[in-house]
Amino acid sequence: MDCIGVFDSGVGGISVLKALVKELPNENFIYYGDSAHAPYGTKTVEEIQKLSFEITDHLISEGAKAVVVACNSATSAAVRVMREKYKDIPIVGIEPALKPAVKESEGGAVMVLATPMTIREEKFKKLMARFEKDVEILPVSCPGLMEYVEKGVTSGEELQNYFENLLGEYKEKNIGSVVLGCTHYPFLTGALREFFGDKTKFYEGGEGVARETKRRVKEAGLLSTSKEKGKVVFENSGSAKMIALSEKLLNLGGE
Ligand code: DGL
Repeated sequence: MDCIGVFDSGVGGISVLKALVKELPNENFIYYGDSAHAPYGTKTVEEIQKLSFEITDHLISEGAKAVVVACNSATSAAVRVMREKYKDIPIVGIEPALKPAVKESEGGAVMVLATPMTIREEKFKKLMARFEKDVEILPVSCPGLMEYVEKGVTSGEELQNYFENLLGEYKEKNIGSVVLGCTHYPFLTGALREFFGDKTKFYEGGEGVARETKRRVKEAGLLSTSKEKGKVVFENSGSAKMIALSEKLLNLGGE
């Protein structure tokens, strides 16, 4: 099937898929969630590169003309080597949406929530170096957080306790905005808003990725000419119930 392949360590990249479907309504998408190997954020760079190659080969064998890495951790660890290996197709990655958050910050600090992998890697350090002169940036690794979304838990006391344990010490600070630097976290926006309060602004990278994907696919002359609404096919390396969760998350209204 002529399609754009999208993958993540699990169901998180569906937050990016939503933006892709909106931006490119006539394209077909195959979304591959690697829930059997999640989380990626605590793996080594080599492990993530190997998984990313396997998934990309699979997506190409299914007809993918472009691949979107809808995972900040996999982008940090593998997008560069993927672009070297798959020279003939557009490979689009994601990074924490620090730029708009800094631009719109009105004096408050900018907190970045992401996986240990994303925070630790060179790619993020360089991104942070570009903006930290302008505003205080607080990067926070959130091991264990994506697992809630993988279990379908997006609200409730258990999550609030997690936030309190990890982020309680920052409550005294003036946090103006929070960058959701892992594609699972946009599904937790409601719960995070409950924790941080209504004044905090949240930033995610999905829309930027969708625009960039359109630009790259168009530039390669690969845009679909169909006038029909495209299809979305879900695949997941985990249990069958992950497909049902994927469909539910895609159809969830905005927070
Ligand atoms: N969705 C992921 C990201 O954007 C990864 C979560 C994980 O597997 O640790 O980083």
